[in-house]
Amino acid sequence: MSKTETMKAVVYQEPFEVTIEDRPLPKLTHPDEAIIKVTTAAICGSDLHMYQGRTAAEGGLCFGHENMGTIVEVGQGVSLVKKGDRVVMPFNVADGRCQNCEEGYTAFCTGVNPGFAGGAYGYVAMGPYEGGQAQYVKVPFADFNCLTLPAGTANEADFILLADIFPTGWHGVVISGFQSGESIAVFGAGPVGLMAAYSATLRGASAVYVVDSVPERLAAAEKIGCIPINFTKGDAVEAIIKKNGGMVDRSVDAVGYQASGDEKKEMPSIVLENCIKVTRPTGGIGVPGLYVPSDPGAPDENSGKGMLLISFGKLFEKGLTIGTGQCNVKKYNRYLRDMIISGKAKPSFVVSHNISIDEAPTAYGKFDRREDGYTKVLIHPNGPIE
Ligand SMILES: NC(=O)c1ccc[n+]([C@@H]2O[C@H](COP(=O)([O-])OP(=O)(O)OC[C@H]3O[C@@H](n4cnc5c(N)ncnc54)[C@H](O)[C@@H]3O)[C@@H](O)[C@H]2O)c1
Ligand SMILES: [Zn+2]
Repeated sequence: MSKTETMKAVVYQEPFEVTIEDRPLPKLTHPDEAIIKVTTAAICGSDLHMYQGRTAAEGGLCFGHENMGTIVEVGQGVSLVKKGDRVVMPFNVADGRCQNCEEGYTAFCTGVNPGFAGGAYGYVAMGPYEGGQAQYVKVPFADFNCLTLPAGTANEADFILLADIFPTGWHGVVISGFQSGESIAVFGAGPVGLMAAYSATLRGASAVYVVDSVPERLAAAEKIGCIPINFTKGDAVEAIIKKNGGMVDRSVDAVGYQASGDEKKEMPSIVLENCIKVTRPTGGIGVPGLYVPSDPGAPDENSGKGMLLISFGKLFEKGLTIGTGQCNVKKYNRYLRDMIISGKAKPSFVVSHNISIDEAPTAYGKFDRREDGYTKVLIHPNGPIE
C-alpha cells in the first residue's frame, strides 16, 4: 500500500458539483474484508440521478459503484481471493448468506444495509460503503463479492463493465422473458440500453430496435446491428410497429424515471407507456431503468412520491408480464467474464472516454449534458492502464 495516509477520491458536494478530495485510506475493520487498489472505476447513468440532485444524496458522498483493481490486503477470514489478484466487484454489496443471496437475488441482500434489501458502493440509501471512484476501495465479504480476472491488463475496458452495465443490460433482457429468435425494442441507448441491445443480439434476437435521441448513441446501436429509432423524429412506437410489421415480442426500459417527453420535458412514465404499447399481447417488459419511491425534482406531485400514471388496464388486457429491479450482478458476471475471455463478447465498444481522476469533475458535467459523445467514462485513479 502507498506510504501516504490519504488518497484521491471523487466526492459529491451539491447538485452539479463533484470535486477531488483527499480522503483517508480505507482500513480493514472485519476479517472478511479486502482492500483494492482501483485500476478502473466507471461513471454510471445511475450516478447522474445523484449528481443532478434528484435523490436524497448528501454532500460528502464518495461516488463509484463500478470498480475493479488489484487486491492489496485481505482480512484473516478471506480464503478464496488473495493479495495480488485482479478482481472486479458487482455494484451490489451482498453478504452471500441471507435468504435472498442464497436464492441468487444478491441485489436484495438483507444483511448489508439494515432495514433495506440491497447495498451498493458509493450510492445514496445503499449502506455505508464508500465508492470506488478513488485510489482504493474496501470490499466487504470479499470472497463473495470479488470475481477474479486473468492477471495483467488485457481487456480492462471490457472487464470493468462486468461491475454493472453488461450484466444489467443482460438482466433487462432476461426479465423481459426474452427467448432466442424473438424481436425486442430497447428504450434508451445509454450504456445500459446499448448493453441490453448487445445482449439481445448475442442471445439471438431476430430484430433489435433501439430508441433514443442522441445521434452518437443511435449510431453505436446501428453499428452492432440494431435498428435505430430517433424518438424526436416521430412516434417511436408507430415507427417500430411499422418496421417490424407488428408489435415486438419483448421490450426493455433502459431509461427510467428521468425520461424525456416532448420538447425534452420530463415525463416519468412515457417509456413504460411506450413499452406497454409496443409489446405484443402475452409478451414481456423488462425494466432495468431506475424508478424511485421519492423524487425531490419530479415534474408533478404524484411522481414525486414514485406514483406513476400508466395504462395498467391495457397491460392487463394484453396479458403482459413485467420484470423490474436492480440487477443481481453475481448471477451473470462469471459467465459474461468467460464470454469476454473467449472473445465471444466485447462490450467495450460502449466506452467513450478514459480519464485520470483529476478529470472526473469535468467528465461528470459533459456526461450529464451528453456532450462530445460522452457515453461511458472510465476513470483510472492510479494512472493509465499500460
Ligand atoms: N437496474 C439496475 O441494476 C441498473 C443498473 C445501472 C443503471 N440503471 C439505470 O438504468 C438507466 C440507464 O442507465 P444509463 O447509464 O444507460 O443512463 P443514461 O442516462 O446514460 O442513458 C439514458 C438514455 O435514455 C435516453 N432517453 C431519455 N428519454 C428517452 C425516451 N423517452 N425514449 C428513449 N430514450 C430516452 C437518453 O437520451 C439517454 O441516452 C438509469 O435509470 C440507471 O439508473 C439500473
Ligand atoms: Zn452503474
